[in-house]
Amino acid sequence: METLGTETAFEVLSKAKALEKQGKDIVHLEIGEPDFDTPRNIKEAAAKAMNSGYTHYVPSAGLPELRQAIAEHISKTRNLDVTPEEVVVTPGGKPIMFFSILALVNPGEEILYPNPGFPVYESLINFVGAKPIPMPLKEENDFSLDPEYVKEKITKKTKMIILNSPENPTGGVLSREDLKGIADSIAGRKDIFVLSDEIYSRIIFEGKHESITQFSGMKDQTILLDGFSKTYAMTGWRLGYGVMHKDLALKMAQLMTNSNSCTSAFTQMAGVEALRGPQTEIEKMIAEFRSRREVIVSGLNSIKGITCKKPRGAFYVFPNVTGTGMDSRTLGNYLLNTAGVAVLPGTSFGSYGEGYLRLSFANSVENIKKALDRISKALKNR
Ligand SMILES: Cc1ncc(COP(=O)(O)O)c(C=O)c1O
Repeated sequence: METLGTETAFEVLSKAKALEKQGKDIVHLEIGEPDFDTPRNIKEAAAKAMNSGYTHYVPSAGLPELRQAIAEHISKTRNLDVTPEEVVVTPGGKPIMFFSILALVNPGEEILYPNPGFPVYESLINFVGAKPIPMPLKEENDFSLDPEYVKEKITKKTKMIILNSPENPTGGVLSREDLKGIADSIAGRKDIFVLSDEIYSRIIFEGKHESITQFSGMKDQTILLDGFSKTYAMTGWRLGYGVMHKDLALKMAQLMTNSNSCTSAFTQMAGVEALRGPQTEIEKMIAEFRSRREVIVSGLNSIKGITCKKPRGAFYVFPNVTGTGMDSRTLGNYLLNTAGVAVLPGTSFGSYGEGYLRLSFANSVENIKKALDRISKALKNR
């Protein structure tokens, strides 16, 4: 258990809550979840399902209705031919990470992963006794991956490459060319799997989402992770899925049987409605994120000591704070305790996150402006 890491967002949230209990006003920019309510049609579909008997165990791999809807959705959005047998439904997207690494990686094997990146990747790599090989995401490359670097890091021991686009925490997006470069560098290595975390695929502000699965032969060695938490503001429902080779899908379903039995039945019926019902609420939500992005990026750039690139996807900014003279952790604590603004240090996402903070703009424009004003004042009054 000593090797298992965590997600600092939950720790900062509890520190911030403790300060609120003491009467302090805190603006929450630490948590990675949409502040919108789940669209009404989805909630109604869940209630209807609950009232019509979807309250029992269902197949471990997911309800046939939902696996079918996901297969259609992924076929359409990734320009692939996906069948329901290639889909496994899980309580959130996170179990797909856990199960993929557990199922496919042996101790001593190497996993390439983005750094700064979602902290659970590194945590799980260490947990199974594999060797984490960071792929640094650099600000000067717009937090994209350098396919040449990836190629250089592939060895005989490489078992998995984790990709995440749009990326948490940087908002970086992998281009078609970058993905093609990565696909080319593992061509002929059928023993390497790609875990492609596409949970933010719908929250993209420039260009369109591209998936490594579209390149020749890649679908069979990729586990595509997506879900409902971010797109449909359904973080508390716990509904996600993986798309993978059907033989691996059988094993993942077996891991589900051994751990969760199945994903909640009425939640899955809500998922069918999410994918097949009207998408207008989602489009509104993304438009709102787009305008908040403008507010937060220009506000941060006007603060002395901070520079911030425009994220191309997801709902996070990853400003460079080296000009403040404080390290990420000290600055994060200072902003929480002095300014009442909860943010995450870049180092919560790996060692390459030093010099940065992560701020979520899944909060109202009013609160974002309040936070910017407080940060600016706190840095001036040091
Ligand atoms: C990059 C990334 N992948 C996956 C997840 C997991 O989402 P969930 O388990 O809620 O579907 C998150 C959540 O923060 C994330 O940021």
